Amino acid sequence: MSSLDELWEKLCAAEDSKSLLKKHCTEDVYNKLKDKQTKFGGTLAECIRSGAENPESGVGVYASDPEAYTVFADLLNPVIMDYHKVKQLKHPACNFGKVDKLDFGDLDPSGELIVSTRVRVGRSHASYGFPPTLTKEQRIEMEKVTREALEQLTGELKGTYHSLDGMSPETQKQLMEDHFLFNDSDRFLKAAGGYNDWPTGRGIFFNDNKTFLVWVNEEDHIRIISMQQGGDLAAVYKRLVEGIKELEKKLDFARLPTLGYLTFCPSNLGTALRASVHVKIPKVAAMPDFKEICDKYHIQARGIHGEHTESVGGVYDISNKRRLGLTEIEAIQEMRQGVQELIRLEKGEEKAPSPKSKGCVIL
Ligand code: ADP
Ligand code: ARG
Repeated sequence: MSSLDELWEKLCAAEDSKSLLKKHCTEDVYNKLKDKQTKFGGTLAECIRSGAENPESGVGVYASDPEAYTVFADLLNPVIMDYHKVKQLKHPACNFGKVDKLDFGDLDPSGELIVSTRVRVGRSHASYGFPPTLTKEQRIEMEKVTREALEQLTGELKGTYHSLDGMSPETQKQLMEDHFLFNDSDRFLKAAGGYNDWPTGRGIFFNDNKTFLVWVNEEDHIRIISMQQGGDLAAVYKRLVEGIKELEKKLDFARLPTLGYLTFCPSNLGTALRASVHVKIPKVAAMPDFKEICDKYHIQARGIHGEHTESVGGVYDISNKRRLGLTEIEAIQEMRQGVQELIRLEKGEEKAPSPKSKGCVIL
């Protein structure tokens, strides 16, 4: 494994790299941070390894542990501000909105375009490091703590934990094809130590109809997921919020007032929420300004097998891009408005008149 000096040399040599690591890890920053260490044993080498070894990274940085966000703030803060496009580091208190009185329901009542809807949040145990600073024993111990909390869930959230260790390849393949399970194929995450001791300590929890799922020790310690076929975002979101609130009663999650919930990758922190639909938009996606439309609504397009994959048959994964500096309900509303605009364009419908042009008085 490359030493910090070697990683720094690789980074310096990567002249064409467009990563945020390359941009913000200046010589001054490097010299200031190179001898620091967190109480979890995290070092700068762990934070920059993936980006130094993969110059084509977009971000290129992972936090070695929750404390890295403080100890290595001279590198992580500018990366966070750049990625999340915020001018200052502050994050509102958690606010899920009035989940029983949401002003939206199904984003595609006709069922023509939206195949499925999913909302997830990442969460980290406050008392454990992130993958590169974890021992195998700690990973097993953390899995146990998470599993015990999950096994106490009741009602619609009640489910079963399935350890990855010992799960047959056929079951894994089917769960992946159905968009439920993760795998170890992300080279950026691999370089960051995300697959150390794979598959030990990893697993998936889900209820009987697979609408509430929890990933254990994928990229983050915990990913809480609610999903179902069709476009009923309100139902999906409500179930997710219920799940988060129940798990918060049992587990202590890492959070900073300035950065919100902490995650392994700085791109995910804040609300750590990604709300997505798989939606058929072949016409819109072929428009020359598709990227500009997505940027305008702060939404992001991915392929249907997750990050770094391609669209199949004109179906895209469309989700909110921003996670920091806004509340959970605001992140959901951004995704909702963006998706509705894409659907309107796909169907070639007129834009709904604004309340003002209808003669309303906005108080
Ligand atoms: P994450 O959402 O955890 O950031 P990915 O983009 O890799 O990570 O997606 C994880 C999995 O969730 C993939 O298998 C992907 O196909 C699936 N997925 C994402 N959004 C949806 C959706 N709206 N409907 C069904 N599956 C989805
Ligand atoms: N490290 C990768 C990069 O810099 C992925 C970043 C965002 N994705 C994620 N799953 N954390 O391009």
